Amino acid sequence: MSTPIRKKTPGNTEWFIHDRFGMFIHFGLYALPARHEWIKKRELISEEKYQVYFDHFNPDLMDAREWAKKAKAAGMKYAVLTTKHHEGFCLFDSEYTDYKSTNTPCGRDLVREYVDAFRAEGLKIGFYYSLIDWHHPDFPIDRQHPRQFDENAPELDRGRDVRKYAAYMRNQVTELLTKYGKIDILWFDFSYPPMENPPAWMQHGGGKGKDEWEAEKMIERIRSLAPDIILNDRIQIPQDLITPEQNNAAPTLVDEETGELLTWETCQTFSGSWGYYRDETSWKTPKMLIDMLVRTVAAGGNLIMNVGPTARGNFDSRANASLQAYADWMKFNSRSIYGCDKADPEIKAPDGVYLTQSADGKRLYIHLLDYPHQKLKICGLNDRIEYAQLLADGSEVMWQESELFDATGKSHGKSLRFLLPGAVFHMTDPVLEIFLKS
Ligand code: GLC
Repeated sequence: MSTPIRKKTPGNTEWFIHDRFGMFIHFGLYALPARHEWIKKRELISEEKYQVYFDHFNPDLMDAREWAKKAKAAGMKYAVLTTKHHEGFCLFDSEYTDYKSTNTPCGRDLVREYVDAFRAEGLKIGFYYSLIDWHHPDFPIDRQHPRQFDENAPELDRGRDVRKYAAYMRNQVTELLTKYGKIDILWFDFSYPPMENPPAWMQHGGGKGKDEWEAEKMIERIRSLAPDIILNDRIQIPQDLITPEQNNAAPTLVDEETGELLTWETCQTFSGSWGYYRDETSWKTPKMLIDMLVRTVAAGGNLIMNVGPTARGNFDSRANASLQAYADWMKFNSRSIYGCDKADPEIKAPDGVYLTQSADGKRLYIHLLDYPHQKLKICGLNDRIEYAQLLADGSEVMWQESELFDATGKSHGKSLRFLLPGAVFHMTDPVLEIFLKS
């Protein structure tokens, strides 16, 4: 098996590539309006109106230990929590702002509770930190900002200094990396280009990127505090992770020059929004959720799946049902995910059938997302199989090897057929586990 080399990056991604599956958690004031985490921008909500959510923020049902147990049961090995989203509200007791959970009726440092609970369950700890900040007085009003269309926007923006804001971010990231123990992932979000025709008063053309964030200084600070932390690419300086979002498994990402495999993680939602959205009806079915995980690992990537807790701080019944779908499937099939990667490209499967392979090359997993009628033809496996079974119940699966000859006796290649149970096996996305001859 000619496995391409994976490109080395500054952080330690070894555990990450093995673990494959994480939980994203988007939580903040936006859980109160309960109609998307960008609600302040989408509805151009005034500061006064948005303040009411701060005044009433009290997730009395939040129990991070419950969150952690559900993530672990679902087979998730790491988690990333929004410590601050675009609204600028901090879930941690930062000394650099009053706009934080400890100053609301909640009165608690929710990042502390999250870290303690998820670490206790053995999950790796990640922090999401928004580069965008619609509350900070030195964040220049730009194309993403809720105040950009206000009549007094130019006056409001006058004197705002992005360098002071960049220093604020470095101070808060330092707090996050020094006050909460070892942090494994830092997830920035996001950079955006200047506008075509920005209003004359708007700074930096209405966009923000690595220069405005002072990204070099930020990364230097981070690497001095946490040298092997995993950093994503959204501060506009490539680090460890590429982060395709809300799309089905991106094609395997490789470095154009060297052909080395790049490390990537696709982030997805159970429904459409990241923050709790009460009336959203676009919830994915259990099969869609499992298909997404399989397709991602088969393409050599990680999946981080998002949960948006309600304003009371709990996962609602729809989120719990989605997590249970993962728990039911991973209980029997996690061997085909953990420690697995893209399979040997010489092995060919029909459409709707996805392959993963253990990092040591000894086990191949055939994921039947479309259940083939009885016989499953696979090429590139002849003479390589020691034993085959259905992973879910360990029941033996037989196979026949064949070679196709035409009337002239010319061979058109070898293939083999697995003889599958006639009726669709009683499991979403059944998996064949193939032990390959060493
Ligand atoms: C998008 C969304 C943002 C979310 C992020 C997660 O940038 O706009 O709200 O936090 O995706 O990847």
